[in-house]
Amino acid sequence: MNLAEIRARLDRTGQSHLLQFFDRLEGDRQRVLLEQIASLSLEELPLLVETYVKKRPVFTLPKDLAPARYYPVDPACPARPWDRARYRAVGEDLLRRGEVAAFVVAGGQGSRLGFEGPKGCFPAGAVTGKPLFQIFAEGLLATQRRYGRAIPWYIMTSPLNHDATVAFFDKHRHFGLGPKDVMFFPQGVMPSFDMATGKVLLAAPDEVATNPDGHGGSLRALKVSGALADMRHRGVRHLSYFQVDNPLVRVLDPVFIGLHAAAPDSSGEMSSKMIPRTSPEEKVGVFCTVNGKTEVIEYSDLPPDLSAQRLEDGSLRFIAGSIAIHMIGVDFIDKVNSDPAFSLPYHRADKKVPHIDLATGQPVNPEKPNGVKLERFVFDALAFCRASIVLETDRVEEFAPIKNATGVDSVESCSQLQTQRAARWLEYSGVKTPRLPDGKPDAVIEISPLTALEPADLASRADTIRIPAGARISL
Ligand code: UTP
Repeated sequence: MNLAEIRARLDRTGQSHLLQFFDRLEGDRQRVLLEQIASLSLEELPLLVETYVKKRPVFTLPKDLAPARYYPVDPACPARPWDRARYRAVGEDLLRRGEVAAFVVAGGQGSRLGFEGPKGCFPAGAVTGKPLFQIFAEGLLATQRRYGRAIPWYIMTSPLNHDATVAFFDKHRHFGLGPKDVMFFPQGVMPSFDMATGKVLLAAPDEVATNPDGHGGSLRALKVSGALADMRHRGVRHLSYFQVDNPLVRVLDPVFIGLHAAAPDSSGEMSSKMIPRTSPEEKVGVFCTVNGKTEVIEYSDLPPDLSAQRLEDGSLRFIAGSIAIHMIGVDFIDKVNSDPAFSLPYHRADKKVPHIDLATGQPVNPEKPNGVKLERFVFDALAFCRASIVLETDRVEEFAPIKNATGVDSVESCSQLQTQRAARWLEYSGVKTPRLPDGKPDAVIEISPLTALEPADLASRADTIRIPAGARISL
């Protein structure tokens, strides 16, 4: 590591303060700091600081913006009938042939939840308190058993939570999955910037403050880590992508897999699931088309009048809310990584970033946002697809994210949704479920994916299930 060279690069890029405490560091700490600095794309920084830190990027609404078309949840919907059974058969066939893998992005910092440790270790089961990772693992195990084929699981961590994640799986013996079929790899990081000056912050005298580079960093990390090569080796052609915070996700949904792979308007590159937005204010990205291509526009970028537009039947015109569930083709990941023009935009987030005061060398724990983090979002890759389809799904069936400790998208709302879905599935199978006067289930119920991946799986044991009022039951 050449100190003079790094100093010169830092001078040229306006970040020479990163070596402010260098002379006071022990020899090995000096080496660690130099290595960390050398791993950053320093030459990119001046442009990033100008574009995203000193200014706030202004979003320009595309001219030919229209709502995205989608496959309705009801395949008999006259507006767009489709053959659900056929696509399910296609998806099941791909699963039997071992051509589909699961992929969870688990590199986020989970700062809103405020949980110590990787978010996937959070106890999410409404009754059992099972960790999120275990719930997904059970979904994989059940799917493997059904289709008689091992299903690889790729888990993207970040340098900040990688070791803790791997240790958690080791401790729990990979929740019954074959260790060779569970692959972990860390995503990349970006330096965190001082909001006022654009200088990269120091987390410690010998450490640059960094943040994971967003779930959009996954497309590059899949390649750099060797995961992509591993998929090729195993004959995997499609990835089922999901986030770590949603225990209701179907980790491998044969219908969605089949549509992505075989629908006439799908390129098989990247497909998405959506839920109908409940109100114009709901904070989810919105599927639109721009120039005929599917895109997600962030809720904060969609002008309120457009967001609130309604059709004759009263439904929102821009109805399709993104729930961050995708199918991604392995060829597509390869394609974007070999395309020199492929680059996802950055999104700016203002956050509280603990750091070292450059003047005093003392640690600072800010009380209000002082830093800028830059992240890439995976849905921006939709713009690089030749074509991309969207499938509608039902909120109670598939979307209960845990983002916050309380309130919206919280531990409590997630537990309620788990119970609502369980009650629905039980009633479908003829099991009586106690209800309160307002219609909500009068019980807390959790159904493991090992018991049922879908309502029909409960039919054979429906006779044996009783749900007394006020009970807490895990099936
Ligand atoms: P969120 O947008 O909820 O971010 O991530 P977060 O970092 O987990 O939580 P907050 O905002 O600090 O409270 C959505 C999904 O994307 C993953 C997360 O782990 C989660 O599954 N993610 C996010 C990454 O894998 N890497 C990132 O850099 C950011």
